[in-house]
Amino acid sequence: MSPSKPLVGILMGSKSDLEVMSEASKALGEFGISCEMKVASAHRSPDLVHEYVSGAHERGMKIIIAGAGGAAHLAGVCASLTPLPVIGVPVESKSLKGLDSLLSTVQMPPGVPVATVGINSAKNAGLLAVRLLALSDSDLMAKLQASRKKMAEDVRAIKI
Ligand code: RP5
Repeated sequence: MSPSKPLVGILMGSKSDLEVMSEASKALGEFGISCEMKVASAHRSPDLVHEYVSGAHERGMKIIIAGAGGAAHLAGVCASLTPLPVIGVPVESKSLKGLDSLLSTVQMPPGVPVATVGINSAKNAGLLAVRLLALSDSDLMAKLQASRKKMAEDVRAIKI
């Protein structure tokens, strides 16, 4: 059986972002959602970003997750190239601890939205993608509800 077409594209500006961004693919995998990961930099390889993102909608993708650090323009550039929802992950930088990445990702001009999660919060990016996909998939919504219930029960079970 051929693997199902990826519904979520996870882009990152550098291979050095992979450890952080893998959390997004892990979260999606826990809900059985197919994704593909790719390194493409807004600054070092803008043509590759354009090529990958501008055709993503026609290829059947539903959501783009984009993570980068420092002058982190990747998510914003993605949002300029596609009608798909874009979730931005500011990756922690060495010099400014990710504050630069956060501000570069979150402060988009009106008309070009990026849903930005916290610094290094790729897991939340994956889970936000699950929530968006669950809006039109009742089986996925049931899984999501079960997972939320378990999370609440785990908190209740904590005895200190
Ligand atoms: C950004 O610069 C990347 O997203 C990465 O977070 C950061 C450092 O990249 P490398 O120098 O490690 O390739 O573009």
